[in-house]
Amino acid sequence: MNSKEQYHPPNEMPSFPDTPVLQGQKAIVTGASKGLGSAIAIGLARSGADVIVNYYTDKEGAEETAEEIEKTGRKALIYYADVAEEQQVQDMFRLCLKEFGRLDICVPNAGIQMNAPIADMTAEQWRRVIDVNLTGQFFCAREAIRMFTNQGLHPDISSSAGKLIFMSSIHDIVPWEGHVNYASSKGGIMLLMKSIAQEVAHLRIRANAVSPGAIRTPMNVEKITSQEIFDSTLLRLIPYKRIGEPEDVARAVVWLASDASDYVTGSTIYIDGGMNLYPGFIGGG
Ligand code: NAI
Ligand code: BGC
Repeated sequence: MNSKEQYHPPNEMPSFPDTPVLQGQKAIVTGASKGLGSAIAIGLARSGADVIVNYYTDKEGAEETAEEIEKTGRKALIYYADVAEEQQVQDMFRLCLKEFGRLDICVPNAGIQMNAPIADMTAEQWRRVIDVNLTGQFFCAREAIRMFTNQGLHPDISSSAGKLIFMSSIHDIVPWEGHVNYASSKGGIMLLMKSIAQEVAHLRIRANAVSPGAIRTPMNVEKITSQEIFDSTLLRLIPYKRIGEPEDVARAVVWLASDASDYVTGSTIYIDGGMNLYPGFIGGG
């Protein structure tokens, strides 16, 4: 292989038909210009939802996501907002109310990594990751719950008054050397999600999380630059022996947003090919 070529681990994800389980519903997905957010926004649209495609730096990426959504016949609106900025998040939800008239599904997905050994980690690296990954999800969840509560229950649209699906990571339970800011943000999301789920269940609002392992997105390009690097870093940690595809995660989000998961709240789904199962113990440890 030419050393400049990018290695592409084969896509072994089985195909699965889309069904219109979210017909007539409205969604917001943050960080939807690429990676998981883009796949989730498209997955929700394929299942019948109109989507606000939030972006931060990558307007072109957001436009591409919106084009894919429009090909499914659903509506897409791209919207710039830094999820760490309270006012910008509030304005985004206001736009949703104005343009879509309601909100049924909120997926606070935007997240970043700023890695450093603990002794070298700066206050800025700590704060920015917590601000985007954790506070950003709090701002979105709070606005979504305000909208869900004002709307109330509409059984003709969904059996829940609203669905929140937080983007976490296996690093909400798996410690990660060199990434303490990131792991702390994801650990925080777990109890943010569970505490919210407990507080709003009586309103028929559901809150759950997805915790992916290693997924083929721009965040992971460095670990798949060559087969050697992929095999020695990611693959050795994945019992199921394939990289995850963004659509693996999108499918779980669609299920959590649909009435098929009506009795599921306060739960985290690990979508990781077994990465959180202590792979070092395979063979007896
Ligand atoms: P990515 O880097 O491909 O995409 C991140 C998205 O978030 C981009 O659209 C980016 O513009 C947006 N974003 C960044 N800062 C933002 C801000 N302040 N406001 C609004 N949007 C902002 O990353 P990827 O892989 O798609 O990750 C998405 C989420 O999934 C993150 O929360 C990440 O922690 C999580 N995740 C990713 C995994 C993976 O293997 N790729 C595994 C587990 C979790
Ligand atoms: C990170 C990825 C990483 C995966 C498994 C995710 O939270 O965003 O970069 O590959 O965890 O370690």
